[in-house]
Amino acid sequence: MSPQRPRPRLVVTHQLPEPVEARVTRDYEALLNTAEVAFSPQQWLERCRDRDGMICSPLADVLSADVIAKLPNSLRIIATNSVGYNHIDIAAAHARGIVVTNTPGVLTDATADLTWLLLLGAARRASEGEAIMRARSWTSKLLGTHVSGKALGIVGMGRIGAAVARRAAGFNMQVHYLSRSAKALPDLPDAQCHTSEDSFWPKCEFLSIHLPLNAQTRGFLDARRIAQLPRGAIVVNTARGDIVDDDALIAALSDGQVGAAGLDVFTNEPNFRPEYAALSNTFLLPHLGSATLETRRAMGYKVLENLDAFFAGQEPPDRIP
Ligand code: DGY
Repeated sequence: MSPQRPRPRLVVTHQLPEPVEARVTRDYEALLNTAEVAFSPQQWLERCRDRDGMICSPLADVLSADVIAKLPNSLRIIATNSVGYNHIDIAAAHARGIVVTNTPGVLTDATADLTWLLLLGAARRASEGEAIMRARSWTSKLLGTHVSGKALGIVGMGRIGAAVARRAAGFNMQVHYLSRSAKALPDLPDAQCHTSEDSFWPKCEFLSIHLPLNAQTRGFLDARRIAQLPRGAIVVNTARGDIVDDDALIAALSDGQVGAAGLDVFTNEPNFRPEYAALSNTFLLPHLGSATLETRRAMGYKVLENLDAFFAGQEPPDRIP
């Protein structure tokens, strides 16, 4: 970026990793939120005044049509520090000519790794075991569900779903996935595609959710689908909480239809349903899918790659159509 040109003015809604923040302040005139202050909607919109672009996050912001309507005309790009963009009303942004970008690719491995932490933790009753140890107690009777050799069902066989499926080879698991048509997956030659839900759900001794959240997938894992899982199935969600019908999952965890759940994402985060914390057969994390130092830095640099391209008059590589 040429030092002669005035630096574009950014508003950043949340804290970024230190080296990313240093780059932001070097190349942009940035209004940061280093202390992670929770601004009121009005204060927050005031911070957007005269800004050319915004860096936002699904963990901090909801950019509804209403909010987007109130953004200043100067603001021409919203770069979300995430792969998911369900927190932004894309149609409303596009209607105002605002470009939206995301960060695909760089958080695939971190999220796939964490999916396995949840899957194993839920199956092997890790939270119960940990709680016992922290209470300075002991038991050898915490029997869980065997993982190796079982069947793993994946809904959402995109980048992250496929990375989770590749890791299943280490556990000698058979992978099944639900898709309208078979995907080209050269490194997963044994993964079985199910085009019919009727054949898919009964296979899923383990189920991992990797769908994007949109109008079609909201409440997707509902009571009807849960009833078709093998009894005692383990459900893992690292995608978005709203893809699961909470009432249905809580009922199934309570009556044993679902044996255990490993959840990293929740409807209405951070105010998730208290029943999940009260159940002993859940293994819960606070939306940590991409939370490694390396990944959060890579995400931040991807955000900047998009902003740099946009303000240099080029096409941002991760523009959401
Ligand atoms: C994403 O990128 O969508 C993650 O859920 C946020 O960490």
